[in-house]
Amino acid sequence: MKTLIYSVKEFEKPYLVCANKGRHEITITNKPLTLETACLAAGFEGVAVFTNDDASADVLRKLKQLGVSYITTRSVGTDHIDLDEAEALGIGVGNVPHYSPYSVAEHTVAMMLTLNRRLILANEKAQRYQFDLSSLIGFDMHGKTVGIIGFGEIGSIVGKILSGFGCKIMVYDKVMEKCLSKEFDFDYVDLDLLLEESDIISLHMPLTEDTKYFINEQTLSKMKKGVMLINTSRGGIVNTIDVLDAVRDGKIGYLGLDVYEHERGIFFRNHFESFGRDKILVNLMNFKNVLITGHQAFLTKEALTNIAEKTVENLTNWEKRDDGSFASTIRRISRENELMSN
Ligand code: NAI
Repeated sequence: MKTLIYSVKEFEKPYLVCANKGRHEITITNKPLTLETACLAAGFEGVAVFTNDDASADVLRKLKQLGVSYITTRSVGTDHIDLDEAEALGIGVGNVPHYSPYSVAEHTVAMMLTLNRRLILANEKAQRYQFDLSSLIGFDMHGKTVGIIGFGEIGSIVGKILSGFGCKIMVYDKVMEKCLSKEFDFDYVDLDLLLEESDIISLHMPLTEDTKYFINEQTLSKMKKGVMLINTSRGGIVNTIDVLDAVRDGKIGYLGLDVYEHERGIFFRNHFESFGRDKILVNLMNFKNVLITGHQAFLTKEALTNIAEKTVENLTNWEKRDDGSFASTIRRISRENELMSN
């Protein structure tokens, strides 16, 4: 199928080319999908996008006019695609529901340890030959309470890894029955208890209307003073201004963000000239107890391989849609959304 793949970085190209094995007529561009760049898709039946591409209603309408009938995202999350509009236009949608939950879970734990043991500062000091250990005191993870909000693929692996550290794991999920069926020896609690008791809180739910600004002034006020908050899910799940205030007044003792509310147009590329334009990000980065990574939690060789292979499989399924395999893809996404809006 003739497909334009947007937002491809140099490092991702070999994975896509290797997975495709010449099956589809793919064209790769490093440009993101926007209202302006949608015109590049003229003559293509399919497009493949990534998390910070804009597949909002206007863009989808333009793609449809140009003859595009299928859009697949190289991500788990589909919050950047207007699924209702896609359905109304008859554009098929695919995603990569599982590629490596381990990649994100392990990055989440890496952020916790880096913040706790002040590894960035330690390395900066070591490079200056300063080995005095001042300002480097951490805490034992063993015995600490970690609250996991969103106990799906990634959240449950984070819980499993941290239980190996001897942490007490508290879990809150919108669909508690699903958690219980996983049979981990964790505490399944209501949200308030998790917020009140946790020394570390890690967010692993999707961004939906329901979870937008889930972490805000009110939820922050219920947390322990000095809590560690980690967000490797989606930036919009936290109200960044409220979180910044909480870092400023010491309510949040450690903050790890792999995702940022306003990351579109900032993350995934370098900005030597416009450094500092985003004042909120700069304010956050000025705190030594804030660790920011640029949406890289997924970035392992295994994840890139699986993403590329599933993307190619989605294109193949769309081509063969008469046999019903496409229908299962879009129904799966719709079911997830139904679940989320329940
Ligand atoms: P999943 O679908 O397996 O799990 C999500 C869980 O969140 C489900 O158990 C669901 O019931 C729960 N949930 C939904 N709404 C909720 C609410 N209002 N309150 C509490 N729980 C709620 O998804 P998975 O694979 O674990 O991924 C989680 C998120 O991680 C994705 O949606 C995506 O946004 C993010 N992600 C980030 C990556 C990165 O590189 N930083 C890479 C991959 C995913």
